[in-house]
Amino acid sequence: MTTGMTEQFIIATVDVALAAQNAVVAAESLGLGICYIGAVRNDPQTVSDLLELPDNVYPVFGLCIGAPAQDPEVKPRLPLGTVLMEETYRDEGQRDGIADYDETMRAYYRSRTGGTKESTWTEEMARLLEGERRPHMKGFLADRGFEMR
Ligand SMILES: Cc1cc2nc3c(=O)[nH]c(=O)nc-3n(C[C@H](O)[C@H](O)[C@H](O)COP(=O)(O)O)c2cc1C
Repeated sequence: MTTGMTEQFIIATVDVALAAQNAVVAAESLGLGICYIGAVRNDPQTVSDLLELPDNVYPVFGLCIGAPAQDPEVKPRLPLGTVLMEETYRDEGQRDGIADYDETMRAYYRSRTGGTKESTWTEEMARLLEGERRPHMKGFLADRGFEMR
């Protein structure tokens, strides 16, 4: 058996996301609420031990499903024109759409936090991308058998 291939890692991770999103659509259709939990990757070894995961399996994310205690408004989405492309990737036109979205999100954050959070989508994304996040993942995945060959 050949293991440790990057392609296997991609397939496994994509399959998890597809299965989870189908579960999410089903749960929400029943009136349940969900929250993905990427934070399981803060300490993936402990999560793997708790779940007794075998080699070549890793925790991609958690998924909480439950009866929602609140009914918050739907979070605004990026305008379709900024994420949908035909034939080839293109980024012209994205700037205006994102600028509009930033103002939408500024208002959204204000309204959701009683005026205490002053931010935009661009600022949140910049914050997400600054510094190293979960640098332990590379070594952890290699230990699980995902050698990325
Ligand atoms: C892959 C992924 C991982 C997430 N991880 C966490 C998490 O660890 N903790 C948390 O409170 N929310 C987490 N979230 C939820 C986000 O913080 C945010 O509340 C959610 O994506 C907003 O939902 P919406 O975009 O569907 O409105 C995660 C969301 C995604 C898509």
